[in-house]
Amino acid sequence: MINHLGIIVDGNGRWAKERGLKRSEGHKAGAQNLRDLILYMSNKKLVNYLSLYVFSTENFDRPADEVNYLMDLFIKWFKKCQEEYSKENIKILFSGRKSLLKKNVVDAMVKLEQRTQNNTGLVVNFCLSYGGRAEIVDATKKICQKCLAGELDINAIDESLFSQNLYHELPDIDFLIRTSGENRISNFMLWQVSYAEFYFPKTYFPDFDTEKLDEAILEYQKRDRRFGKVK
Ligand code: FPP
Repeated sequence: MINHLGIIVDGNGRWAKERGLKRSEGHKAGAQNLRDLILYMSNKKLVNYLSLYVFSTENFDRPADEVNYLMDLFIKWFKKCQEEYSKENIKILFSGRKSLLKKNVVDAMVKLEQRTQNNTGLVVNFCLSYGGRAEIVDATKKICQKCLAGELDINAIDESLFSQNLYHELPDIDFLIRTSGENRISNFMLWQVSYAEFYFPKTYFPDFDTEKLDEAILEYQKRDRRFGKVK
């Protein structure tokens, strides 16, 4: 059983290019695939927590038409999925700097979070406008403010307290998948991947279907996790 699965969604653009399509078509296909994967994981109870890297703080530097397309796609999907996630008992969280996003995007995110906040099934954490270093900096600021306000003793700061001050207090990531054959982590949940097993399939995200996910999970089950200890 994987408690917390992370997926760095990658390869939508190359998937589209190979088919002579626009990059936006790749993102659309990626969104459809993501919907199928989430429902599959929820129905089969494959994982408890799922974190998805769908838009990094660095992605704002892409051409404006691509950024705008993605933002519209997010709004559309978050509205569209409200009913479905409620019915499936899926709880949605967002991690990232909301201050960098336009109001209509934040509104759609907040509504979805509120609508699903009491659900008790699969927890899906969308990392959007997200950077792992930014998350650590933001947590540090929160902790410093509490110290300055006299609410927290500096000696009480430990790893557990630090985790509580991240965007959400989530368990460590057990298994991290990055699609498209890139072997890097690109600032994704740096605190939470400390002991994660990594898996880098060559498949572009729109083709990373439920069968490929099953293959990935089989691979995870073969891994020998020692957490720095000797067995
Ligand atoms: C990376 O692939 C993908 C993204 C930056 C966008 C991810 C977005 C989605 C899957 C869309 C839907 C998400 C939701 C939440 C509805 P890339 O385009 O950088 O691929 P490339 O490296 O081949 O260019």
